[in-house]
Amino acid sequence: MIFLQMTSTLSLSPYRIFTRNLRKMTAVGVSSPLSSSQLTLALFYGRLFPNNCLHFIYSSYSLHWLSKVPPALYDEHGKSINKGKVYISESSPPNVSQAYLNQFQADFSLFLRCRSEELVPGGRMVLILLGRIGQDHIDRGNSFLWELLSRSLALMASQGALEKEKLDSYDVHFYAPSKREIEETVRRDGSFETERMEMFEIGREKENGESYGTRVAMTVRAIQESMIRLHFGEGVDLDALFDIYGRMVDDEMAEAKGGIKPITFVVVLKKL
Ligand SMILES: C[S@@+](CC[C@H](N)C(=O)[O-])C[C@H]1O[C@@H](n2cnc3c(N)ncnc32)[C@H](O)[C@@H]1O
Repeated sequence: MIFLQMTSTLSLSPYRIFTRNLRKMTAVGVSSPLSSSQLTLALFYGRLFPNNCLHFIYSSYSLHWLSKVPPALYDEHGKSINKGKVYISESSPPNVSQAYLNQFQADFSLFLRCRSEELVPGGRMVLILLGRIGQDHIDRGNSFLWELLSRSLALMASQGALEKEKLDSYDVHFYAPSKREIEETVRRDGSFETERMEMFEIGREKENGESYGTRVAMTVRAIQESMIRLHFGEGVDLDALFDIYGRMVDDEMAEAKGGIKPITFVVVLKKL
């Protein structure tokens, strides 16, 4: 999010509330003139600022992260219904995609409600988030990168390097919404008008001689490492896992089918 710089000389009470909230604020999606020492983490699925105090909100590559792994992925005994996979996959039962969609709609609705209370009427919000190209969940976009992580973990499990049961119960708190799902959630919330919505295929450039797969593996590892370690235990060989994963991504990219095309949406909303 982008804010005007606040100084300690401001003493009006809304600003006091603002700065107090700012200290609790998320550093996620933040492009702020404030130093990191002035920021600590807080969840954006909840209120962060006083009513009617912001003119512009910017959230970058964050809203595809759900507030939690959808609870509906687990049966009454706590067992995952998405065995062997970490995200929606071809072999997942239909209630897996429904569980993910429900969680996305609940989270995104809450985000819209909270931000609409914080924005002044006419204020704008620019959201950049990952998504998918059509209604089908099984495509060669963002979801496919999770499919390859499932396959890498399964390969490690088949080699005895991690427990198969632990793979069955590991699921990511991510969702790639379609254009229609984003638009419907905004419409249902009712406090914003969609001014613009664009879709881009944004891949990664080869850099420093590293392959595409290596760069994707480093990015996914940066996000997933702590969660995989917590779930599978300290003994899990993350170097081996992400080496396998990077090679799988490179192999897929080399196939003639047009590679993997992560989809990014840019949405501009105006507070009514
Ligand atoms: C891929 S990074 C994007 C960072 C930066 N905004 C950018 O565009 O480069 C995603 C960020 O989302 C944060 N995040 C995910 N869910 C969140 C939530 N519910 N509340 C606050 N931050 C969250 C993560 O901690 C991470 O810093």
